[in-house]
Amino acid sequence: MERCLITGAAGGIGTRLRRLLRGVYPHLRLSDRVPPPDLAADEEFVAADLADAAAVERAVAGMQGIIHLGGLSTECPWEEILPANIIGTYNLFEAARRAGVERVVFASSNHVVGFYPRRRRISAEAIPRPDSRYGVSKAFGEALGAFYADKFGLGVLAIRIGNVADAPVDERRLSIWVKPEDLVQLLRIGLEHPDLHFEVVYGVSANARGWWDNETAFRLGYRPTGEAENLSAAALAAQAKLPPDPIGDRLQGGSFCSLEFTGDPERIKA
Ligand SMILES: NC(=O)c1ccc[n+]([C@@H]2O[C@H](COP(=O)([O-])OP(=O)(O)OC[C@H]3O[C@@H](n4cnc5c(N)ncnc54)[C@H](O)[C@@H]3O)[C@@H](O)[C@H]2O)c1
Repeated sequence: MERCLITGAAGGIGTRLRRLLRGVYPHLRLSDRVPPPDLAADEEFVAADLADAAAVERAVAGMQGIIHLGGLSTECPWEEILPANIIGTYNLFEAARRAGVERVVFASSNHVVGFYPRRRRISAEAIPRPDSRYGVSKAFGEALGAFYADKFGLGVLAIRIGNVADAPVDERRLSIWVKPEDLVQLLRIGLEHPDLHFEVVYGVSANARGWWDNETAFRLGYRPTGEAENLSAAALAAQAKLPPDPIGDRLQGGSFCSLEFTGDPERIKA
């Protein structure tokens, strides 16, 4: 794997990856709607709005692998999710197919399964229970990944990312935190594992309070080194200052579940 594109390169994870992947792939191309403010002279940047198929095609041209981070990363109105995350992710996979790209790593999200109760341990085979339009868009991206793998032979890894940060910031994040270096391990598995067709894994470190059975990731060679529990004091202190959330505190997606909620809490529990 020599020529890789990162979409969403100006965002939070992209900014970390530019540092963590430096020297790993000889030709790393960055794309986003806007250039990273600290773009270095030796970094290649191609501007592209994901909703613009021709622009995406230009960004993807000549690449062997893609880390697709671009798009809206939180709950938004449908009118905004549709172009960025639905049409944008379609444009990305379609450009990848046309350009003969070998691998796509898709940044999916824990919000695909946000309505599962926290006490339930789920694997990557859990059917989607999205907690937001954002989560629905990520489930769509996972489905596109399976489709492009089965129909057109692309190798695809969808990573249901928990929360990438230097440290977990509240109780929920003690379960879903992923150390940036652990995420890099997964991204590299997605780009480099010799035998990858389509898989879904959880982007989570080795957290004692974890909710997810990440067997698929371990089978592919993932050996996480982060453990949120070692950083729990600050997270629990921060949690103690938060108001209770009767819906979100019981569910994996947290506040994404309680946002706009008019459902029946009893039926979700079941
Ligand atoms: N940060 C996390 O902990 C986390 C957790 C789960 C999933 N994810 C996913 O990982 C990816 C990266 O997350 P992040 O935290 O860096 O998000 P971010 O919001 O910081 O970055 C996303 C980037 O995508 C770009 N973008 C948005 N719409 C676009 C469009 N229409 N065309 C081109 N570029 C567009 C933005 O300019 C931004 O730079 C996202 O897809 C997010 O959903 C992140």
